[in-house]
Amino acid sequence: MLLKVDNVTKTFGGVHAVRNVSFSINKGETVGLIGPNGAGKTTLLNVIVGTYKADSGKIELDGNDITTKPPYKICHLGISRTYQLPQAFWDLTAIANVAVAGLCGKHRPDMSYGDAMLEASHCLELVGLFGKRNILARDLTLYELRTLGLARALATTPRLVLIDEAMAGLNPGEALRAVKLIRRLKEEYHLTIFWIEHIMKIIMEAADRVVVLNYGEKIAEGPPKEVINNPTVVEAYLGKKHA
Ligand SMILES: Nc1ncnc2c1ncn2[C@@H]1O[C@H](COP(=O)(O)OP(=O)(O)O)[C@@H](O)[C@H]1O
Ligand SMILES: [Mg+2]
Repeated sequence: MLLKVDNVTKTFGGVHAVRNVSFSINKGETVGLIGPNGAGKTTLLNVIVGTYKADSGKIELDGNDITTKPPYKICHLGISRTYQLPQAFWDLTAIANVAVAGLCGKHRPDMSYGDAMLEASHCLELVGLFGKRNILARDLTLYELRTLGLARALATTPRLVLIDEAMAGLNPGEALRAVKLIRRLKEEYHLTIFWIEHIMKIIMEAADRVVVLNYGEKIAEGPPKEVINNPTVVEAYLGKKHA
């Protein structure tokens, strides 16, 4: 077992964004996290990477307690993530954005700027963005920013990558390209993927197993085909009438 989330709760004021959620992820798996808007998916991701502290519960990576570790340490331990709304250093070039991720995202005090740039160009090649390496992040398209996010995640040499809605805002052709890209990266780098997706159809095809959140609570977990036919899940997405 690579990641274990045990009874995790996170509230904002009175809102239970995540409530008593438990699940685990095995090495090499692609686990999907689905649920309606506001279900707590992004919050759960932010708790795993240490951006938010859990109110209660425990998170383990490879059997080590990471619940209270700061984000940079969790990244050094092998968890990287992408953002639902792409984040970048907007006034830096694509390659510099990835180099920063390489320099800060792994515990390699000896790493030079030159090494980081070399690795960054390799990461950009992997996601098909090498031709745009000298373009400022602010001038990239949404699809390019999403692949830049993947390149930055790769630059930290992760074992587990948490993807927050890789497809949001992409047209169907771009979404398909992005799915193929993520699958290829997973195979080539033996990654484990925790993949948040609002669009059920995508995760049904991409995930080995799916966890479903609704109002902060886990309402189902299992193989995609089983989960999609679960009346509680159908109700959460479409309302009681359709269930
Ligand atoms: N930083 C925050 N401060 C206050 N409330 C938040 C914050 N982040 C998320 N929430 C609330 O927590 C709930 C879950 O949000 P979120 O995790 O973004 O859901 P999802 O990613 O599934 O759409 C929502 O009710 C949202 O308004
Ligand atoms: Mg979200």
